[in-house]
Amino acid sequence: MEFFIDTGMVDEIKKAAEWGIVDGVTTNPSLIAKSGRTQVEVIKEICEIIDGPISAEVIATDKDGMLKEAYEIAKWHDNVVIKLPLTEAGIAACATLSKDGIKTNVTLCFSSNQALLAAKAGATYISPFLGRLDDIGHNGMQLIEEIRMVYDNYGFTTKILAASIRHALHLRDCTLVGADVATMPYKVIEALYKHPLTEKGLSTFLADHAKANS
Ligand code: G3P
Repeated sequence: MEFFIDTGMVDEIKKAAEWGIVDGVTTNPSLIAKSGRTQVEVIKEICEIIDGPISAEVIATDKDGMLKEAYEIAKWHDNVVIKLPLTEAGIAACATLSKDGIKTNVTLCFSSNQALLAAKAGATYISPFLGRLDDIGHNGMQLIEEIRMVYDNYGFTTKILAASIRHALHLRDCTLVGADVATMPYKVIEALYKHPLTEKGLSTFLADHAKANS
């Protein structure tokens, strides 16, 4: 299971890099907007911090516009992955980029049929959005399970990048159903370390050590 951090905040990425467990970064236009900086600035800086796949999303909604942006973004760094929305134009652009050997992340996926389209277009990653499905009363995890089954049934190598992860339980369930990658906000990754029994156990060990060595 690969861990990506889902943020446009460079400070968070720097701190996460120190953990030694982050394999890549995903961004989207909303996350970049929150950073208050331009996409090019943020993505280039992230590429200097994390040596792994860095997703940067196109803004155009037509195929030609998407391709124009994608070829420009791809020049920024070898690790850049072009993020495309799961629309007709996005899938068509994905097919073209795949043929050109450019890595892609097809985003805003909410059904296994959509994930199948992305795989057929040669997407490197498919991003199903768990939390946003849960938000409207659907079962986000079931979608990951279905995509895993479809990809395994037909031998597609597109990686399942579980996105819109809101809490540690989402991650735990993703590992059980076989998502390849989980992209998580900084706070969710940070929370993975926490367990009350770890904290309690450690303070007992330290107290016992101090008593024995006083
Ligand atoms: O980057 C895409 C995705 O992870 C967004 O998550 O929390 O805005 O639904 P969220």
